[in-house]
Amino acid sequence: MKVKISIFGFGTVGRALAEIIAESPRIYNIELQVISITDRSGTIWGDFDILEAKEVKESTGKLSSMGDYEVYNFTPQELIEEVRPDILVDVSSWDGAFKLYEFALKEGVSIVTSNKPPIAEHYKELIDMARENKVGIFFESTVMAGTPIIGLLRENLLGERIEEIKAVLNASTTFILTSMEKGMSLDEAVKEAKSLGILEEDPSKDIDGIDAYYKARILHWVSYGEPPEEEERIGIREVRDARNVRLVAEISRGRVKVMPRKLESESPLLVSGVMNAAIIKTNNLEVVLKGPGGGGRVTASGVFTDIIKAALKFPNLR
Ligand SMILES: NC(=O)c1ccc[n+]([C@@H]2O[C@H](COP(=O)([O-])OP(=O)(O)OC[C@H]3O[C@@H](n4cnc5c(N)ncnc54)[C@H](OP(=O)(O)O)[C@@H]3O)[C@@H](O)[C@H]2O)c1
Repeated sequence: MKVKISIFGFGTVGRALAEIIAESPRIYNIELQVISITDRSGTIWGDFDILEAKEVKESTGKLSSMGDYEVYNFTPQELIEEVRPDILVDVSSWDGAFKLYEFALKEGVSIVTSNKPPIAEHYKELIDMARENKVGIFFESTVMAGTPIIGLLRENLLGERIEEIKAVLNASTTFILTSMEKGMSLDEAVKEAKSLGILEEDPSKDIDGIDAYYKARILHWVSYGEPPEEEERIGIREVRDARNVRLVAEISRGRVKVMPRKLESESPLLVSGVMNAAIIKTNNLEVVLKGPGGGGRVTASGVFTDIIKAALKFPNLR
C-alpha cells in the first residue's frame, strides 16, 4: 500500500522524521512517500529526495532554496486541495494549525501531529470531525514525545478508570531547576538553558508552565473526554530553593494543575535531563512511565509510529 505524506514544518522534528522515513521507507507492507514539505518559505511538492531537502534546509535555512523545484505559496486550504496527501503530518510550531486540520479532516485526510495547541484547544471538534469523515487524528508526540503515554491512555488503559495522573512533562524547567540545585540563580540557569537552545522560542512557554499546561490539558481530554473545569498554572519564576523541586502537572477528573512541587527523594517524578515521568493511578493499577520527553529523533519516533498507525487503521487512503 502506498501512502502519500505531506510534512508541514521542517525544523528539528521534521528533519529527524525525514531521516527516519529515509531509513525505513517500506514498513509493514506500507510504502511511505513524502510528496510535499512546507516551511515558512513555502512548499516543495513532487518527486524530490527528502534527504536532499534536509541538507538544503540545514545549509540555507530555507526549503525554497531547493534548486530545481518549483516552490508554492499555498494557503492551508490550497495545500490540502492541490497536494491531496493521505496523511498530513504537522511538525510545525504554528499555534493556529487548527485551520489546516479542519480542511484536512473534511477532505478525508488523516492527521499526525506533534503540535500541542491545536489538540489542547480543539480536541473534541477534531475527534468528532475525524470520526465523521472516517479518518484518524494521532498526537502521541504532543506529550512526552516518543514515550507512549497517549497510546497507553487511548488504547491500553481503555477499560480502566483514570483516577489521577501526576507527571513531569517539561524538560526545560527540569534543566533550570537542576542547575539551581547546583547553586545557580534562576536568571543564570535560564541564560544557560537559552545558550544551549533548550528553551522554546518564547521562553515563557517553559518558565511559566504554558507548555506543561497544554500537555496536561491534552492528558485530561484523553483521560476523561471533556475539558477540565478547574485549571491552575504556576511556573517556576518564584522558586528560590530548588532542591528536589520539579514542575509537576496534576490531572484528575475536572481538574488540571501545573505547579512546582517539592518531591520525596525516592519519587519517580524526580527526573533529570530530558527525562519525563508520569504516575498514572487507575481504579486497579498504578503505572509509572518514564522516558525522554524531547529531542528531534525521540519526538520524530512517536510521529513515525503514528504515521504507521494511521496507515494501518485507515487503509482506505486516497
Ligand atoms: N523538539 C522537541 O523536542 C519537541 C517535542 C515534542 C513536541 N514538539 C513540538 O513539535 C513541533 C516541532 O518542533 P521543532 O522542535 O521541530 O520546532 P522548530 O525546530 O522550531 O521547527 C518548527 C517548524 O515549523 C515551521 N513553521 C512554523 N510556523 C509555520 C507556518 N505558519 N507555516 C509553515 N511552517 C511553519 C518552521 O518553519 P521555518 O523553518 O521556516 O521557520 C519550522 O520549520 C512543535 O509544535 C513542538 O512544540 C517538539
